[in-house]
Amino acid sequence: MSQGASDRDRREVGIDALGVYTPRLALSLEDLARARGIAPEKVTVGLGAHTMAVAPPWEDAVTLGASAAARALARGGVAADEIGLLLLATETAVDHAKPASIFLHELLGLPTSCRTFELKHACYGGTAGLMVATEWLRSGAARGRKALVVASDIARYDIGSSAELTQGAGAAALVVSEAPRLLRLDPASGVYASQVYDFWRPLDRREALVDGKFSLDCYLTALDGALADYHRSHAGHAGATRDAGAGSGGSAHEREDAAGAPLADRLAAFLYHTPFPKMAYKAHLRLMESEWRRWGRAADLLGEAAERSYSGQVEPWLTMARQVGNTYTASLYLCLAWLAEQQGRALAGREIALFSYGSGCCAELFTGHLQPGCGEIAATIGAADLLRARRLLSVEEYEALSREAGGSRAPEPHEAGFCHLAAIRDHKRIYERAACPA
Ligand code: HMG
Repeated sequence: MSQGASDRDRREVGIDALGVYTPRLALSLEDLARARGIAPEKVTVGLGAHTMAVAPPWEDAVTLGASAAARALARGGVAADEIGLLLLATETAVDHAKPASIFLHELLGLPTSCRTFELKHACYGGTAGLMVATEWLRSGAARGRKALVVASDIARYDIGSSAELTQGAGAAALVVSEAPRLLRLDPASGVYASQVYDFWRPLDRREALVDGKFSLDCYLTALDGALADYHRSHAGHAGATRDAGAGSGGSAHEREDAAGAPLADRLAAFLYHTPFPKMAYKAHLRLMESEWRRWGRAADLLGEAAERSYSGQVEPWLTMARQVGNTYTASLYLCLAWLAEQQGRALAGREIALFSYGSGCCAELFTGHLQPGCGEIAATIGAADLLRARRLLSVEEYEALSREAGGSRAPEPHEAGFCHLAAIRDHKRIYERAACPA
């Protein structure tokens, strides 16, 4: 690594504030399973899921994203004119040409001197945006401003298909800045990309198509690749830090790494892209197996260590995924929101890993440190309150809502977030801000 690159690494960059949002309507997956003639245990045990958020006709990727972003800015105390880059990641695009991000730009009152665009790589899009924002800040181009990265999606499959149980809807908004208050990102990260047809949505379809079993294999293969690349990247950055004369012979974590410690010994938590909670379980077992082999640990101790690690380092952060379902680009960041809100104070200063997977496919494994004092900003997220404020639908209501066209009906005041899709006229989408945003 060049000296210039390590200077960039030393800039403290990461997530300063985090907002999340999910529709006010939800469906019990046990009810849905029963209605489809499926054993409810397949959902609760086989997939590890509980409830899915249902997007009504007044919500789309713009409204969900704007609601999450408005919460991140207002609750995080970030002024609109501090934002110099707005990225919106979605695979639920509302137009083939006009980016969803420009609607947020207007709704949030962001300055005209703000670069903005929409980006896509299935569920990896949100992480792609985070990495673009991080590089923008590390490069010095931000000139003291912050980036707003929004990940917003509605996961829809055909009614009656096996993937129907893995739907959901929601958004996460990340304010990315120097001197972040929540999570400082480490420069090391591992990436994996490969062209596969595991999940896709042709331009004329609202519902995604998926080769379900194959998609699980693709996810795990991508995790293997990203993990191997992460170790290469981590070794390179640790070496460069030592060469640059840190003087102490590396940090405690780097010394542990050199001494042969699996990641689960070093890190406090692992967050995974979670299409359904059992996927995170499968992923963590795979990561633990790989780490065990890497460091030559005794094979007979793996099973118990992996289960213990899953229970303490993965499972506690899956609550939003279990209650909201798949939120595609936002899924990983809903896990971060839950971790920060529930345990941010206790884990301040600790390092965590995040694994992002997007079908098609591209994946990234990266790490960051929860900032000292992060409990204060984490307490503003309000994820648990969002879950409590939802109304459960019957299966019949869910099916009827799925047939309604976007913008065909206005929400009751308590059903909307920061804004709603009021109408589509002459192929133009009209959004209205709520009088008293939730
Ligand atoms: P399926 O055929 O409905 O279910 O597909 P299954 O038969 O594989 O059963 C699922 C689990 O339930 C199995 O557990 C069964 O044993 C268990 P496992 O063997 O895997 O541990 N089971 C039961 N357990 C207890 N009691 C019972 C019972 N019956 C069965 N009675 C599948 C499931 C997830 C494939 C399907 O829902 C699907 O296609 N979902 C969408 C695709 C998906 O989520 N893929 C995940 C990886 S790809 C990804 O994450 C990217 C994505 O987010 C998109 C993007 O990037 O944009 C999807």
